[in-house]
Amino acid sequence: MSAALAALLLAALALSAAAPAQALTSDPARGEKLHAKCLDCHGTSLYEPDKRKIKSLKALRKEVKRWGTYYAPALSEQEVEDITGWLNERFYRF
Ligand code: HEC
Repeated sequence: MSAALAALLLAALALSAAAPAQALTSDPARGEKLHAKCLDCHGTSLYEPDKRKIKSLKALRKEVKRWGTYYAPALSEQEVEDITGWLNERFYRF
C-alpha cells in the first residue's frame, strides 16, 4: 500500500470517528434546580405574562445565557439549555 493511500485511509477513519455535532436536549428538572442560584437577584414574578419582556424562545435562551455569564464559572451550554427549557415549560410556553 502506498504511503499516500494509507494516509488517505487514516484521514477517512479519523473523519468517521468524529461524532456529529449533537443538538442539546433540555432537562427542565435539572434547569429548575440550576435556577435556584438566579433567585439571589429576582424571583420568578418577572417571567409572568404581565411583567415579561422576552418575546421568543430564541430571545429567552439568549437572556439566560447573558445571565449565565454573571457566574464564575459561567453556565455551560447544557445548563443554559436546561434552564431555558424549564423557564419555557413553566412560564413562557413559546
Ligand atoms: C445580578 C442580578 C441578577 C442575576 C444573578 C440574575 N438576574 Fe435575571 N434579571 C435581573 C434583572 C435586574 C432583570 C430585569 C432587567 C433586565 O432585563 O435587564 C432580569 C431579567 C431576567 C429575564 C428577563 C425576564 C423577562 O421576560 O423580561 C430572564 C429570563 C432572567 N433574568 C433570567 C435569569 C436567569 C436564568 C438567571 C440565572 C442564571 C438570572 N436571571 C440571574 C437580574 C439578575
